[in-house]
Amino acid sequence: MCGIVGAIAQRNVAKILLEGLSRLEYRGYDSSGVAINNETGVRAHRAVGKVQALKDKFEAEPLDGKIGIAHTRWATHGKPTEANAHPHFSGPDLALVHNGIIENHDVLRRELKAKGYEFKSETDTEVIVHLVHEALKSEPNFVQAVKNALESLHGAFAIAVTLNDENERLVVARQGSPLVVGVGIEENFVASDQLALLHVTDQFIFLEEGDVAELTRDGVTVWDKDDIIQERPISVFNHNVDATDKGEFRHYMLKEIYEQPTVVAACLEGRLSHERVLTSCFGANSEFLKQVENVHIVACGTSYHAGMVAKYWIEDMANIPCTVEVASEYRYRKVAVPKNTLFLTLSQSGETADTLAALRMAKELNYLTTLAICNVPSSTLVRESGLTLLTKAGAEIGVASTKAFTTQLTALLITSIAIAAEKGELSDAKQAELVQALRSLPAYLDAAIKQDSTIQVVAEQFANKHHALFLGRGPMFPIALEGALKLKEISYIHAEAYPAGELKHGPLALVDEDMPIITMVPHNVMLDKLKSNLQEVAARGGELFVFADKDTDLHSEEGVTFTEVPKVDAILEPIVHTIPLQLLSYHVAVVKGTDVDQPRNLAKSVTVE
Ligand code: AGP
Repeated sequence: MCGIVGAIAQRNVAKILLEGLSRLEYRGYDSSGVAINNETGVRAHRAVGKVQALKDKFEAEPLDGKIGIAHTRWATHGKPTEANAHPHFSGPDLALVHNGIIENHDVLRRELKAKGYEFKSETDTEVIVHLVHEALKSEPNFVQAVKNALESLHGAFAIAVTLNDENERLVVARQGSPLVVGVGIEENFVASDQLALLHVTDQFIFLEEGDVAELTRDGVTVWDKDDIIQERPISVFNHNVDATDKGEFRHYMLKEIYEQPTVVAACLEGRLSHERVLTSCFGANSEFLKQVENVHIVACGTSYHAGMVAKYWIEDMANIPCTVEVASEYRYRKVAVPKNTLFLTLSQSGETADTLAALRMAKELNYLTTLAICNVPSSTLVRESGLTLLTKAGAEIGVASTKAFTTQLTALLITSIAIAAEKGELSDAKQAELVQALRSLPAYLDAAIKQDSTIQVVAEQFANKHHALFLGRGPMFPIALEGALKLKEISYIHAEAYPAGELKHGPLALVDEDMPIITMVPHNVMLDKLKSNLQEVAARGGELFVFADKDTDLHSEEGVTFTEVPKVDAILEPIVHTIPLQLLSYHVAVVKGTDVDQPRNLAKSVTVE
């Protein structure tokens, strides 16, 4: 989604802003722009496509100045053109960048046009800058004028505004879209996320909903939603700064796939004793584990798939009902909440607009408590949830989620075991066995990754495919959904996933020699049933790609490509079987030459509805 960077310093900020934009590229965007404020006025460059195109413009015609704002735009209102790229101007001295959506922009545009404002873009953003301009006519104080203008807006936004006057400052505001202030020495910054500013500071102030802030070189003043000045705490960033470095890897996605044994170990660290899950990992208030009688899981995309796996674990181990729903559906319906229901959200970013809206709605309902399983400790989701279990995957840059998913599954398995044990549904011996299995997970993930070069060869067979079908049974069905999502996200191959038992009820009609079928075969009671499903495919000339352990007795033959996955405890199968599917999608995308880390049309953090 759109990204914002802003800076006010004693030095030229152009390089800082351009580097910040490069660091935001992972979020997904289609155009970019920078406005620099100096004694000659506010001047801008904008470009369609990669940030490099903007850098080329700076190379050809440098803009220097000590105050500036910058933006990567992910088109919502109006195509990705230079005219629609931010910053937008009202007059020569006032420029603004915006992340989010202004829902009443049509009405505001009509009103502003009636007042004589001319619009140069199709964006909803342009109404904001004209509103600030209009407000400045009756309110000379820049901060107050911005506050007055914001009162007319409906929707979600984060903005940064610069005005060329004698009071050098940036004004920023947040309502519904994340914004973080970076604190420096005689310089201050703002951005949509911390990663954009790690080259200039590691000290951050997280703005809260409704905050407006004024940034000068000497300080930051924050007003809350009730217009009261607040001292927001400064946090020090403690992720590994090298997260933004690809190291020896060709793509962030591959690096993140390879990091999984390490980050899953980090996710387990301090959460297991020799034979138990330590309930203290949920914080001081872990009483809910005993009380919970129902679980509602709400999430989007890959995080939703992790939730679907957890349903199998929770119902099986804790013997309580669990529902899983996509946040964009949950937030718009009337939900029945049985007594003692846990509301559980899953999110890598903790900034997904639909998941946040679902959490806010749930907080008005009669839930036992809200628990967020999330990767970003400073995120809105973490700050607004009752309880948190961090996944500790480290910064994930590739748009296609990989290590965030396997760490979510690990955290969900910890949670499922804890609920089951606290409710007396799990014997001590069984819990010890599960904990033992969890401890061995990083080593199994490592073994699964060792199949990389074999999977790279398999991927070549997908180079000319346009469709693919993923099959799974039980908890492998959500893994099939996740495999299909990965393949379509980065290789643009149309992929569907079905529970294998549904094959005969429709999808079998699609099966022919052009339709590869990918299936993960668990070594459990469903093995024989799944083998029959595979026979049905083979009999129709379908090309099978089977991922299974040696003991399944499956092997490569005419029309069947067998890839070995390490044999693991049944409870770990969904996590370990995810690895070959991630690697398959990755290598197919590389063979097809797509933009693996920033696939077209997608954003890393979906901060608008
Ligand atoms: C995964 O590969 C996706 N890019 C996407 O589905 C993602 O999982 C979804 O947008 C939810 O994001 P979150 O986990 O940050 O809330």
